[in-house]
Amino acid sequence: MNAASAAPEKGLAMIASDRARQLVARMSPAEKLGQLQIVFRPDQDEMADRVRAGLGAIFWPRSARAVNALQRVAVEETRLGIPLLVGLDVVHGQRTIAPVPLAQAAAFDPEMAEHLARLAAREARSGGVTWTFSPMADISYDPRWGRVVEGYGEDVHLTSRMTGAMVRGYQGAGLSSDAAIAATAKHFVGYGFAEGGRDYNTVDVSERRLRDVLLAPFRAAVAESAAAVMASFNTIAGTPMHTHRRLLTGVLKEEWGFGGIIVGDAEGVRNLLAHGVAGNIADAVRLAYSAGLDVEMGGVPGELNADALAALPAARIDDAVTRVLMLKEALGLFEQPYSNEGDEITEPGDDSRRLVRRAAARGSVLLKNDGTLPLPASSTASLRRVLVTGPYARSTDHLGAWTQSFGAPARSIAEVLAERRPDIDFAVLPGVDFTDDDAAGIEEVVAATADVDLVLVCAGEPSRLSGEAASRSDLRLPGRQEDLIRAIAATGTPFVVVLENGRPLVTADWIDQAPTVVEAWHGGTEAAEAIVDVLFGDEDPAGRLPMTFPRSVGQVPIYYAHENTGRPASVRGSMDSTHVDIGLDGPANVQDKYTSKYLDLDLGPQFCFGHGGGYASFAHGAPRISVPSISVDELRAGGAVAVDIEIANTSERDGDEVVQLYVEDIVASAAPPVRRLISFERRSIAAGENAAVVFEVRWSDLAQWSDAEGADVVEPGLFRLHLGPRLDDTQAVEFSVSGR
Ligand code: BGC
Repeated sequence: MNAASAAPEKGLAMIASDRARQLVARMSPAEKLGQLQIVFRPDQDEMADRVRAGLGAIFWPRSARAVNALQRVAVEETRLGIPLLVGLDVVHGQRTIAPVPLAQAAAFDPEMAEHLARLAAREARSGGVTWTFSPMADISYDPRWGRVVEGYGEDVHLTSRMTGAMVRGYQGAGLSSDAAIAATAKHFVGYGFAEGGRDYNTVDVSERRLRDVLLAPFRAAVAESAAAVMASFNTIAGTPMHTHRRLLTGVLKEEWGFGGIIVGDAEGVRNLLAHGVAGNIADAVRLAYSAGLDVEMGGVPGELNADALAALPAARIDDAVTRVLMLKEALGLFEQPYSNEGDEITEPGDDSRRLVRRAAARGSVLLKNDGTLPLPASSTASLRRVLVTGPYARSTDHLGAWTQSFGAPARSIAEVLAERRPDIDFAVLPGVDFTDDDAAGIEEVVAATADVDLVLVCAGEPSRLSGEAASRSDLRLPGRQEDLIRAIAATGTPFVVVLENGRPLVTADWIDQAPTVVEAWHGGTEAAEAIVDVLFGDEDPAGRLPMTFPRSVGQVPIYYAHENTGRPASVRGSMDSTHVDIGLDGPANVQDKYTSKYLDLDLGPQFCFGHGGGYASFAHGAPRISVPSISVDELRAGGAVAVDIEIANTSERDGDEVVQLYVEDIVASAAPPVRRLISFERRSIAAGENAAVVFEVRWSDLAQWSDAEGADVVEPGLFRLHLGPRLDDTQAVEFSVSGR
């Protein structure tokens, strides 16, 4: 579903329950205030004092037992006995760590993401967590921004589907279940568009981009009844999101009918002072709560004080308190505030391990393959000795950003390889560190290649180089890893590169010398097992890139769904002097020079959004369309254009194909994106079998924001659909939309 849907939103009901109404009527201003904040990281005794004084939400104190102790203070030692909300960043797992969100997006399998979120919810709730600050719905075109690892990439449709699936997974059929936690779509809004990819930085976007791109995934989360939305750290056109009344209250609460909680980001209210829009804390608090914030997240005692709230209308405060109480009610906390301490899940079970292992393999993307992969499944004379090198050979740093110290650790690739294939002799020699400038070990690796049949290079970014406050200006492999790869390439020994990282990398300096490369991302607790599954063909690395890999950091921002310019480039850039002087070269070079490109770079990215393959091969039949034309009215009434395509697995292996459907609006009132993903399906097809894939194109898939109408509209005209396994390998069919 495109998030810009015409369908009514579900949202949380904002009709106050009897209990919420009666409680609000009895509450003193101080008691109300206590419900409007969540405080992080003080010790247990300090936290108990704050709860006794009325604090309504805390960060998880790290065990069911500690939660119960604090709940007991809230329920038994406060006048109204209101239970606590217990929040935590459960981002890609609590104990069993799933692949990072960007890797989950690469699987092009929202159903899998839903299962992963459900697993995380079950583990977290068993320990007393009731509220997660996830999923991250921020779209970004800038891989320098470290937080791209926490999101689902550059695409609106993929991000909306993933965000919706995560909310469903966390919240399950009902929040009162002992396997559900309240979800938070964050960071509202624009956070991924920070200038220069520098975390927390300035944002200035048009209404059109806000509506068509940045808001859409949040709308999908609200449509799935996400319990909360987190305000972002950035400004938009000078207005910090924590004070952005038009977006927080106008769009989110009023236009979309969002009945949940708007929570601030950590110290986001205090940060209003640094932004230069509030002179003191009281002003900052007043600005934020009057803009629509419901709960402040912070750690400064007494920050949210009665004086600061006194300046706000009573109805606004009561609305915020009601929202909090209703979430507590939906979670069933008034009936059952305590967790069963004996049921707390503290380590992964076998099923959980199996699930995250499968997910890590499914998110792997085969960037290139000269046929070296998969490696033979059983002993052969051609694979007796393998050299395992690179910093990821022995490292266990596979969990990725945003995991906590209690997440179940991973094993190393070297360890799992040796265990899985005792018939192969693995020599392990990392050669270089992740980030050190020391290249001394490369020589030894090169010498060792002489005795082996294959080299496996395990390269990447350590987890700490992506995530919050982890922006990079250089997107190449850090340290001397590129030197290691080039040195191995020069030996002529066959080799495979496995990459683990939390963002798109610039691979231009070595990728042409590496015939086989798998992008495995940070795969979580079972990452090493999943990588070995992929290497030996037990799993098909048929994921696709959720974000473009640039050739050079100078191309950023780079994304496939860009507008066409008036002067699109059709030939590569060149710094050749014959192209410099129009007087010398004559008019023939006009198209070459005066087009949108860099003089010193080839056109296009290294690997585009949607790029990837798998071990099987597929033939696609000609796409067929159900009707040549449909009217706007028919679309509005729920009508659809169906397009179907027959796919044959022409190989001798079972495998997965990811069919992607893009739309191109040929003429529109505002320059349309050159292509826009509107649907996709990942389908497993057995060797030699055929499958039919059918897509339905609906109003919500074609609608785009119109400034003139102040709404999403479908404009009559010609639309071209592009279907295929990759953006550069599609077939087109057209249909038209008539005015009536
Ligand atoms: C991050 C949020 C996170 C919060 C609480 C902030 O710094 O921006 O995404 O939920 O911390 O840990």
